[in-house]
Amino acid sequence: MKHIAVLTSGGDAPGMNACIRAVVRTAGLNNLEVSGVYRGYQGLIEDDLIPVTREHVRNTIHRGGTWLKTARSEEFRTPEGRQRAIATLRSRGIDGLVVIGGDGSFRGATALSQEMDLPVIGCPGTIDNDLFGTDLTIGYDTAVNTAVEAVDRIRDTAASHNRLFFVEVMGRDAGFIALRTGIAAGAEAVLIPETTTYIDELVVKLESDWKERRRSGIIVVAEGDDGGGAMEVARKVQERFPQWESKVTVLGHIQRGGRPSAQDRILASRMGHAAVLGLLAGQSRVMVGVQAGQIVYVPFEQATKHHQQINPYLLELVEALG
Ligand code: F6P
Repeated sequence: MKHIAVLTSGGDAPGMNACIRAVVRTAGLNNLEVSGVYRGYQGLIEDDLIPVTREHVRNTIHRGGTWLKTARSEEFRTPEGRQRAIATLRSRGIDGLVVIGGDGSFRGATALSQEMDLPVIGCPGTIDNDLFGTDLTIGYDTAVNTAVEAVDRIRDTAASHNRLFFVEVMGRDAGFIALRTGIAAGAEAVLIPETTTYIDELVVKLESDWKERRRSGIIVVAEGDDGGGAMEVARKVQERFPQWESKVTVLGHIQRGGRPSAQDRILASRMGHAAVLGLLAGQSRVMVGVQAGQIVYVPFEQATKHHQQINPYLLELVEALG
């Protein structure tokens, strides 16, 4: 292996820059040439690459987003799009690829690697933490910290005005951000896609809180919750329980930006380093993961097929303490 490419794909996540830096510098130490691909797979299709040296990644470890930029490429989902990407890889003489992204990105990587017989390794970069086979994904810790800080601020005003706040956090298919944020911010309840939301149960809980003279509260709702998101849940609760004045805050993309936490920078650095060493050791179609603190290589098939399980103990904890 002489020349590898690195790209970021799907939703950006804080820590992606630290991961790119680790890939570039580990490759340099092993005498590999590196190309950086702009805008994920779309850049590969459009031959939008630059040679990257260790100088390019200087002063990037602390920055949010991804300086290589990212995209969700529809064209890459088609065999024709992937053929154009393969033409770029061949003409540039690239013989290994590191993909930093989520499950959709790894599905694309699997198809590409099968169609071209190219060694590909993934680093899990998504704030959602929903990939199977790794305890943590790059960006998750920062996103949770951002959400907790926001909820802390909301709690101040909620308590001052005796209001019930429904705070929506990201997670189209996964409740990890919601659950952690709920525990850390002391939420009264957390609603997530992995469990069925029963408005009746929530109302019973709120009535009992009301009887105990509690007059403000925080309900954290994952955007993909089956109750229909924070707006919808708030509307239903307000209908049934009008004594409490309700407000809704949707945190949205604020959770995707910002300086990566120390934990995310360290995780991203370890994963980027392990990705290049994995390629050199002959690994392919695997995601770098971390399990019980140790780096592991998980086949793409496994990482994308299953959804990481929610720890039921954490759900009980919210209920017990909220
Ligand atoms: O994949 C991460 C994620 O933040 C999801 O939780 C969210 O639903 C989605 O991305 C939003 O993506 P976009 O920025 O493309 O709207």
